[in-house]
Amino acid sequence: MDRPEVLEIVDVNPGTTARLERDYVVHRLWEAADPAGLVERVAERTRAIVTNGMVGVKGDVIRALPRLEIIGVFGVGVDAVDRAAARERGVRVTNTPDVLTTAVAELGLALMLDVARKVTFNDRYVRTGRWPEEGDPPLSQTLAGKRLGIVGLGRIGQAVARRAEAFEMAVCYHGPSRKAEVGYEYFPDLVAMARAVDCLIVTCLGGPTTQGLVSREVIEALGPGGWLINVSRGLVVDEPALVEALVSGRLGAAGLDVFADEPRVPEALIGLDSVVLQPHQGSATEQTRGGMGRLVLDNLEAHFAGRPLVTPVD
Ligand code: 8YV
Repeated sequence: MDRPEVLEIVDVNPGTTARLERDYVVHRLWEAADPAGLVERVAERTRAIVTNGMVGVKGDVIRALPRLEIIGVFGVGVDAVDRAAARERGVRVTNTPDVLTTAVAELGLALMLDVARKVTFNDRYVRTGRWPEEGDPPLSQTLAGKRLGIVGLGRIGQAVARRAEAFEMAVCYHGPSRKAEVGYEYFPDLVAMARAVDCLIVTCLGGPTTQGLVSREVIEALGPGGWLINVSRGLVVDEPALVEALVSGRLGAAGLDVFADEPRVPEALIGLDSVVLQPHQGSATEQTRGGMGRLVLDNLEAHFAGRPLVTPVD
């Protein structure tokens, strides 16, 4: 049988692309000098799309491929995929949950520890020669005893909660509904939770239902002693309000892995010592990216073998 043809939107992971090329005819959109021309040339033969969580796939690409059957997303977030267009054409969508939960939770904790203990600030302090010149840096904060509010107690939120408990933080959460299976305090009102905690960590899904959820009011409620950590999606937070609050000191500190317009990061954050920045690294460990790649391939294999999908979204 002919190998099915796949349009790969971005190089999701070098090992995954290589594996994909063993079993499929892969059209690399990210290398095309004329991407629209490539889509047109392969339109009648392409049966699958592979993309990542950040780039996703636009509706016009989905609509341009009449034989498209499945979109494999290398990531848990599918907010960048035009799911309405996929549904309209009966195209299945898969993602990579679970395999990345630990890695994203670890980065959330790393950012929280860094903000509390000023790890990267003090690293710069040593490297730039300030220690012998200025003496000891300002004191940092103990993480133990702080109150943590988790925005979105899904798989990643719960993995953060378990780790935060090990660091002796008091955990509470906000989400669309109370979870019967956990004992953490629930706040139906996010502003009230922001007022009650020292640190807010954003672990909810992205997309229209959560866009702007961490509003100016929430940020103001966290206040000058508060910290915001975001390992979800940049658009969940009102980024201009966040930047203003950090610059003016109305918010104490932030640890940010995600931004509204990646890979662009607001210029005003670059020089701020109260902010720790990461280039969207939540799932970016060798182990996790390997697991995500396998899951993308397993879903495609199941689909083309006529078996149930392993991790379907739609
Ligand atoms: C990836 C992600 O960094 O899972 C997600 O939703 O955003 C991340 O795991 C992304 O898919 C880029 O490869």
